[in-house]
Amino acid sequence: MSEENTVKDQLGRPMRDLRLSVIDRCNFRCTYCMPADEVGPDFPWLKKSEQLSFDEMIRLVTQFSKLGVEKIRLTGGEPLLRSDLPELVSRLNAVPGIRDIAMTTNGILLSRYAQALRQAGLDRVTVSLDALDKTIFRKMNGGFDSPQQVLEGIDAAKAAGFGNLKVNMVVRRDMNMSEIVPIIEEFRGSRVVVRFIEYMDVGNVNHWERDQVVPTAELIQYISNHWKIEPVAKHYTGEVADRYRFSDGGGEIGFVSSISQPFCRPCNRSRLSADGKLYTCLFATEGADLRTQLRDGSSDEELHNSIRQVWCDRNDQYSQTRWGGETKQESKHKIEMFYIGG
Ligand code: GTP
Ligand code: 5AD
Ligand code: SF4
Ligand code: SF4
Repeated sequence: MSEENTVKDQLGRPMRDLRLSVIDRCNFRCTYCMPADEVGPDFPWLKKSEQLSFDEMIRLVTQFSKLGVEKIRLTGGEPLLRSDLPELVSRLNAVPGIRDIAMTTNGILLSRYAQALRQAGLDRVTVSLDALDKTIFRKMNGGFDSPQQVLEGIDAAKAAGFGNLKVNMVVRRDMNMSEIVPIIEEFRGSRVVVRFIEYMDVGNVNHWERDQVVPTAELIQYISNHWKIEPVAKHYTGEVADRYRFSDGGGEIGFVSSISQPFCRPCNRSRLSADGKLYTCLFATEGADLRTQLRDGSSDEELHNSIRQVWCDRNDQYSQTRWGGETKQESKHKIEMFYIGG
């Protein structure tokens, strides 16, 4: 991508990463994302006709790529609930300029699809896993399935040839602190990188409370009581996780500290919801409606110009300013995480 074509936002940040939500539904009800008491049987999910088709996604991704996007992350809801996902992966793979396609999944359907996804050209998989203890696992996710199924999914992904596996664990003080050591023990030395995620105030329905957040500094102290760990430099500009390695060669772990150490300055992530709205921040209140434009018969050039304009106007830095009085977003209706992925 030549610098000439790369669009920059108000803070000089390029657009490199597109997080593509392919469906808003999920087979879990994680307490920190879509708790069952808020997201019940009558929830107004997007209808099929409201979701972007694969053709529409590819048309948009082609324009995103021309504006600087190189990485795609498939998200949901739970992306594996969208039928024919391998077909989408192989079509994304064919878009010029896209050099990395990843997916974040809860892992329940992974053993079924790992092989086909790999063959279609998916590069990387990140699996959410908050506990190995079945009772705690279910408490975190609203009462579904078992951690064993997720572990089988991870094994299937390894067997299919995914070398770059990550596990995301959201830590809640009242629920799964006791699972930190078991999860590390499970994956230490296996080349699967576990990342600990601070519980965030995304959306409006997750009953977020600050005292449930376990700050990274405390986690590092806690883990250091069991293993010696040392920091490692970031892999690339804008990387979300702070990386650490076990001093004894047991591999790496990571920390995503959106609450205690926000990372908006280099943020190059754009987000497209399953119904075709473009969001420029995880904490956005509004998105630009690209679906209407797509279905109105706009040309590729018009779509390109709309995306460019949205990014040019962007000045989001919510995590950096959330309690500084510089943003009023917390009082507005924030988009839910399951519309725009993690
Ligand atoms: P790679 O570095 O490409 O592997 O991906 P990643 O670490 O950016 O992706 P992943 O989806 O695994 O991100 C981990 C978690 O970090 C997400 O589930 C979110 O909880 C959080 N996160 C990701 N992007 C952002 C962001 O832009 N802002 C904030 N506040 N949190 C984010
Ligand atoms: N806080 C932190 N991470 C969250 N995720 C969803 N909701 C939250 C939240 N409130 C992230 C987790 C999960 C991924 C799908 O989305 O990392 O693994
Ligand atoms: Fe589903 Fe992921 Fe949200 Fe959990 S965090 S409810 S698995 S979309
Ligand atoms: Fe990017 Fe918004 Fe997250 Fe900051 S809060 S890192 S601007 S998505």
